[in-house]
Amino acid sequence: MARLFNEPELIIATHNPGKLREIAQLFEPFGVKALSAGELGLPEPMEDGLTFTANAEVKARAAVEGSDKPAVSDDSGLVVPALGGDPGIYSARWAGPDKNFNVAMQRIQNELGNKDRGAYFVAALALAWPDGHIEMFEGMVHGTLVWPPRGDLGFGYDPIFQPDGYDITFGEFEPSAKHAISHRADAFNQMVAACFAP
Ligand code: IMP
Repeated sequence: MARLFNEPELIIATHNPGKLREIAQLFEPFGVKALSAGELGLPEPMEDGLTFTANAEVKARAAVEGSDKPAVSDDSGLVVPALGGDPGIYSARWAGPDKNFNVAMQRIQNELGNKDRGAYFVAALALAWPDGHIEMFEGMVHGTLVWPPRGDLGFGYDPIFQPDGYDITFGEFEPSAKHAISHRADAFNQMVAACFAP
């Protein structure tokens, strides 16, 4: 049994305003006050884990240590099995310091050649308490990589990712439609069902 979350406050361990908004909204119905690691001035730890869950854990535990309050964090990326799992946990890094995802998508296309175009997005969530307890969840969405990229409604690798069962890319999805089936939604739904059930 997962531990139920009964605390008045929760740190969202991200310095990304977009993620903060998305995650804070999720907790509104549960009467939890969401505080951001950024506004509390908590440092960003090194993401040196070898898995998405390890990196989510590092970020959640660092926020707990810096605040003595419970914290939630996420880590996500695109996994291409034909590329040995790349870019995976290095998804953000493949875009370089300028965060240029056209470069990252082109690199995937170049390395893929005639290999299998199957891919999936992963989102790991870690929910940590000050007594050291932690709950982890991993969400996924499977699909196919298309070329050339299509659509500008999303971010990151969305324009080359076509989820299974659809003939449009995440870049062509309305944001609300993407949020209904995304890897992040999958992980959040698992966490809410396990730890925030009314
Ligand atoms: P992080 O979770 O902030 O470490 O970054 C994960 C990286 O994975 C992002 O910079 C994106 O490149 C990629 N990524 C994660 N989720 C998505 C998504 O929903 N669409 C497109 N790219 C994503």
